[in-house]
Amino acid sequence: MRDPRHIAITGASSGIGAALAAHYARPGIRLALAGRSETALAAVAADCRARGADVVASRVDVTDAASIAAWLESAAADRPLDLVIANAGISGGTGPQVAPTDLREPPEQAAAILAVNVGGVVDTVHPALRIMLRQGRGQVAIMSSIASFRGFAGAPSYCASKAMVRVWGEALRVDYAPHGIEIAVICPGYVKSPMTDANDFPMPFLMPAARAARIISRGLAANRARIVFPLRLYWLLRVLTALPEPLLDRIMARLPRKRGLRPR
Ligand SMILES: NC(=O)c1ccc[n+]([C@@H]2O[C@H](COP(=O)([O-])OP(=O)(O)OC[C@H]3O[C@@H](n4cnc5c(N)ncnc54)[C@H](OP(=O)(O)O)[C@@H]3O)[C@@H](O)[C@H]2O)c1
Repeated sequence: MRDPRHIAITGASSGIGAALAAHYARPGIRLALAGRSETALAAVAADCRARGADVVASRVDVTDAASIAAWLESAAADRPLDLVIANAGISGGTGPQVAPTDLREPPEQAAAILAVNVGGVVDTVHPALRIMLRQGRGQVAIMSSIASFRGFAGAPSYCASKAMVRVWGEALRVDYAPHGIEIAVICPGYVKSPMTDANDFPMPFLMPAARAARIISRGLAANRARIVFPLRLYWLLRVLTALPEPLLDRIMARLPRKRGLRPR
């Protein structure tokens, strides 16, 4: 959608979500920002207000479906919602293990990742779609990842969660287009944020969050179905995944692993 004026973003308290909020913030724009960390969210809101935007910041956990729906309905109550970005996410991998007999990815970690990255996205997108069906227009952006295109041994549940929301969003796009609703999936490579700051391995083509926000907003303005970047990393992955499976398995086994999810 070109020139959205009322934008809701989950996971706006840091990283890509905060960069998107700053990118869109200017006079005439209203931002509904959600996150869990009140202090971090307040700092992002203050920065966006200083840029001239009207900001409503709310502490919302995306694993609480009723709260997410209430947050979006309240944002849409007095002004149509143009764009909802389901961005909140967590990551954790199969990095250093406690003992060799431990499961490579603890079940609690897999459950937490699926709850936020899948459940949280679905529970954000459904109320957004209900609102936009009433409005007869709007755009929904779903944060996936380049990691959605192949399961990496270093982050099984994370890759699977991102694959689910990408494929889901791509399917939804077709049915909602006749209702004036645009749906996009966003598949970034490595973007500098607290999420990637936790990685202790080289990240090819790592880019600043502000640059990612510019690329994402251009893709959304053009109503692109898939916003994948950087293309160099995407094509590298396409070549890698075209290799014969036994060779690919050997390469995958050597790739670095994300650290395990730290309990909050
Ligand atoms: N950085 C990358 O390289 C990269 C690449 C591809 C995709 N992505 C995706 O981009 C999105 C943003 O990641 P990021 O890199 O910006 O990471 P980040 O800085 O860690 O930001 C994650 C955001 O999600 C929020 N969040 C997490 N759990 C939540 C919950 N249960 N309820 C509400 N908000 C929650 C966090 O809020 P609080 O801190 O306030 O809890 C934070 O604002 C994620 O979906 C991630 O998977 C990132």
